[in-house]
Amino acid sequence: MNTQLDNDHIMHYVWGADFPKLVKGEGIYLYDVNGKKYIDGSSGAVSCSLRHGRKDMAETLYQQASTLAYALRHTTTSKVLEEATDKMAQMYQMDRFFLVSGGTEANEISTKLARIYWAQKGRPMKNKIISRWQSYHGFSTDALSWGGSIARRREFIPQLQEDGHIAPPYCYRCWFGKECGKCNFECANALETEIKCRGAETVAAFICETISGTTLAGVTPPDGYYQRIREICDKYDVLLIVDEVLCGSGRTGKMMAIDHYGVKPDIASLAKSMSGGYFPVGAVACTEKIAEPIRRSGHFSPGYTWAGAPLPASVVSKTMDIIKEEHLLENVTEVGSYMEEQLHDLQTRHPSMGDVRGKGLMWGIEYVKDKKTRESFDQSVKFAATVAKNCLDMGLLICSCGNLDMGEKGDASWMGPCFEITKTEIDELLDIYEKALTKTEKQLM
Ligand SMILES: Cc1ncc(COP(=O)(O)O)c(C=O)c1O
Repeated sequence: MNTQLDNDHIMHYVWGADFPKLVKGEGIYLYDVNGKKYIDGSSGAVSCSLRHGRKDMAETLYQQASTLAYALRHTTTSKVLEEATDKMAQMYQMDRFFLVSGGTEANEISTKLARIYWAQKGRPMKNKIISRWQSYHGFSTDALSWGGSIARRREFIPQLQEDGHIAPPYCYRCWFGKECGKCNFECANALETEIKCRGAETVAAFICETISGTTLAGVTPPDGYYQRIREICDKYDVLLIVDEVLCGSGRTGKMMAIDHYGVKPDIASLAKSMSGGYFPVGAVACTEKIAEPIRRSGHFSPGYTWAGAPLPASVVSKTMDIIKEEHLLENVTEVGSYMEEQLHDLQTRHPSMGDVRGKGLMWGIEYVKDKKTRESFDQSVKFAATVAKNCLDMGLLICSCGNLDMGEKGDASWMGPCFEITKTEIDELLDIYEKALTKTEKQLM
């Protein structure tokens, strides 16, 4: 391709990989130095929710940078931050927002907010954060602690805090050996057991990805799961924090994926799509109930240099306008169901497509050696990685997820195109995907 990895100064993610060297993005396409065109099938890290190269986003950044790029939140506030958070309150239906620089930070602050809330309520011992295995909340030490990505946390175990993890709602490979629709939500009930064992008086919150991102490739719990989780949280005075960094901000056709379940969280972590992919921004959202004791204390100390700065706030404000004015939630819902139908159609023809799951415009395809036994490929086969490589050669960028099956084996492809994509563009994307998958099945099955 076109990289000379040994001759540059980049700390690479995959050393020695022949990655395309990109120079331009336009619409759903990315272009490399040789003019080769790629469909951005995963919108970057499922984060570039608007088309590439939007002049209005560039103009927003330019205008805000030339007017007021930065203001220190310890001593000032800004009009643009007020505007952005007003719009967010209307769209996300949450009451208070704290802007940060990304998803990891959002989760760091969400969990600290939960602990501060209980401390202000006179219960400082309530400070443990229970989470789920096979989840990802970011790469800081705290986020890796709450995160249950067995593979990603392995190298750091001595540094991590262990507050308790429960089984994921992974119906395709149920950890309780149950069949989807014929269970008693054992995976949700596990939260009650964990709270009791740790002592409810020590547990501040439960954090989970509402719909799984890369660690389980789009696992979407059945209706009833979050209703049960909410009941347990309420019973034991445990706050519910939803990590909507990847699945939130319109990705599933609603501003928060938890809205599909009719459940209200206490705190939500947001990032990625809330800035259209044009600036590193995240946010912590909470209800007034959570904000109230902190407001009374007069002080909320966590935060970093860029928290709530005008430049990122302007990008969020503009993204909220675009989502509303261009009816992007409707587009995600409509084109997302079309994509789902097409993927299920492909599944009938391809022996490796074990499970297709997700919602809106986030889809995971878990691969198997045999659909009946659901046996996963060993990591060494690199099935999903080979699909991604074949897609890349044919002009499509998608992501791969590994270690799905208890962190040991199993892999999936992962797609999440931008919110503006059309059905015709989905056809173009899936046409390349099917060709690449056919080639991979011939190579590896
Ligand atoms: C669900 C989830 N939470 C948190 C993060 C971390 O976000 P960031 O990479 O912006 O720090 C990610 C990133 O992929 C994510 O998918």
